[in-house]
Amino acid sequence: MNKSLPKETKPYWLDSVELPTFPSLNDDLTCDVAIIGGGISGIMTAYLLMESGIKVALLEADTLLSGTTGHTTAKLTAQHGLFYDELIQHFGIEKAKQYYDSNQQAIEFVKTIVKKYQIKCDLTEEAATIYTQDTQNVTKLEKEMEAYTKLQIPGRLTETTPLPFHIKQAIIMDKQYQFHPLKFLKVIVEKLKESNCLIYEKTVASKVEMGNQPKVLLKNGKAVVCDYVVSCSHFPFHDEGFYFARMYPERSYVVAALTNTDFPGGMYINAEQPTRSIRYTPYKEGKLVLFSGEHHKTGQGVDTYKHYENLQQFAENTFGVQSIIYRWSAQDYSTLDKVPYVGYVTNSNRNILVATGFRKWGMTNSISAAHLLADLIMNRDNLYVDLYTPSRFQTDPSVKRFLQTNIDVAKQLIGGKLEKLSKTVEDLNNNEGAVIDWNGQRAGGYKDGKGKLFVVDSTCTHMGCELEWNSGERTWDCPCHGSRFSIKGEVVEGPAETPLKLLNQ
Ligand SMILES: Cc1cc2nc3c(=O)[nH]c(=O)nc-3n(C[C@H](O)[C@H](O)[C@H](O)COP(=O)(O)OP(=O)(O)OC[C@H]3O[C@@H](n4cnc5c(N)ncnc54)[C@H](O)[C@@H]3O)c2cc1C
Ligand code: FES
Repeated sequence: MNKSLPKETKPYWLDSVELPTFPSLNDDLTCDVAIIGGGISGIMTAYLLMESGIKVALLEADTLLSGTTGHTTAKLTAQHGLFYDELIQHFGIEKAKQYYDSNQQAIEFVKTIVKKYQIKCDLTEEAATIYTQDTQNVTKLEKEMEAYTKLQIPGRLTETTPLPFHIKQAIIMDKQYQFHPLKFLKVIVEKLKESNCLIYEKTVASKVEMGNQPKVLLKNGKAVVCDYVVSCSHFPFHDEGFYFARMYPERSYVVAALTNTDFPGGMYINAEQPTRSIRYTPYKEGKLVLFSGEHHKTGQGVDTYKHYENLQQFAENTFGVQSIIYRWSAQDYSTLDKVPYVGYVTNSNRNILVATGFRKWGMTNSISAAHLLADLIMNRDNLYVDLYTPSRFQTDPSVKRFLQTNIDVAKQLIGGKLEKLSKTVEDLNNNEGAVIDWNGQRAGGYKDGKGKLFVVDSTCTHMGCELEWNSGERTWDCPCHGSRFSIKGEVVEGPAETPLKLLNQ
């Protein structure tokens, strides 16, 4: 039994499923709809369009499901933290109800598909619970319950849960679900394959050229001509509409453990900070308990390994750890008003559509997005067009957050460059990375286990922000829009497409 953290990061989902592989696209192509991004939003949109007889090409920069979807915790719920009271304040009752309905319908859709194809994806009904251990938050939970009542969301307050620690109060949404997202999506991908959907991996879309028809230009020089382009690339790969200034990435961490105390079932998240989110998934003969949370804005330059240690400690203090089997982390984008951007990329361009900003609640939000995107393309009515339109503008509190987001970005652009650096290559220990002074220039230095040095230009190739070291993943992360690079400078995660310059080789 190993109570320590695994050396490498690897998500349980990707480690427990063998996914089909696909070739890269090395020719020009014509199709009805080109979908960029092979995560849950891209795959589900492809599935719904395919069902309507549309010729779809699905293009994935890496391998299908290797992005955030492969690194999720996969609670399938319309309970997205303490949110409905806030939603009512900012959007009013009607739209808040639409948000709930669209996410609840997404759950029903997954249940229907699981039944239709008899998918074995560990789908189980679980109560979703937000708990607080802080007396000051009790009023917040009570206000959330009032919001549930106004929106006719089935829910209840309680002072007891089956968790092995004391809580002050909790709010429960019954009949929610959890699943193994990749066991589910693997079957959807197989259905796409059977229906001759064109799927390409290791195929990076760079931008769209607008003519009579949109033309997706690929990084390898080839092009896809189509009627509609759908950007499901997490951060929009084609940034028309200032998405870079309207969204921010946050990383979260997961530690998956076999525990001493039997997990009682249910899905839990606390109301306070740091976030603690808990669920189990069936594992061999027992239960693997997923402890997640510790979110922070990407690339904030803190010691990220510490976040795993904090979750490990939480697991030990609550359920007791027999052994830790997996650890992983990932990021998701939030929009200014916390509601995803789904629809036409701008009001004036109706040939490019986008789905992004799921705020770590993309299991249901992406499925709702897929329906909305397919309906827009098929010219069908959809009740949720206005709620999710990326062109909406809600002044409160988005303006404040908009300014904060942009101040953060500006700080990185200006402050990063002016920062005085005290570290040099000599100060780096083996297995350590840091921003260093390299011939008078700011650079990213990393020494591997044997002392081999890798120095990269620490300026992000997307829009020029200064990168920070991520010790938990051994990557260079961008605080502005979340691009990530390996120690050798290769792109690990976009929106950047161009690698960093390796300065010492
Ligand atoms: C730690 C963590 C826990 C979470 N837990 C939950 C949860 O319990 N419940 C819940 O509802 N949600 C949860 N989420 C959120 C959810 O996982 C995400 O919202 C969702 O997976 C996002 O799916 P996606 O398809 O938009 O993005 P992704 O899965 O990231 O897919 C986007 C794909 O696009 C590809 N791509 C990018 N750029 C290009 C390009 N230029 N050309 C071609 N392809 C490109 C990428 O390689 C990637 O594969 C969690 C998120 C995190 C980080
Ligand atoms: S500047 Fe945009 S991701 Fe780095």
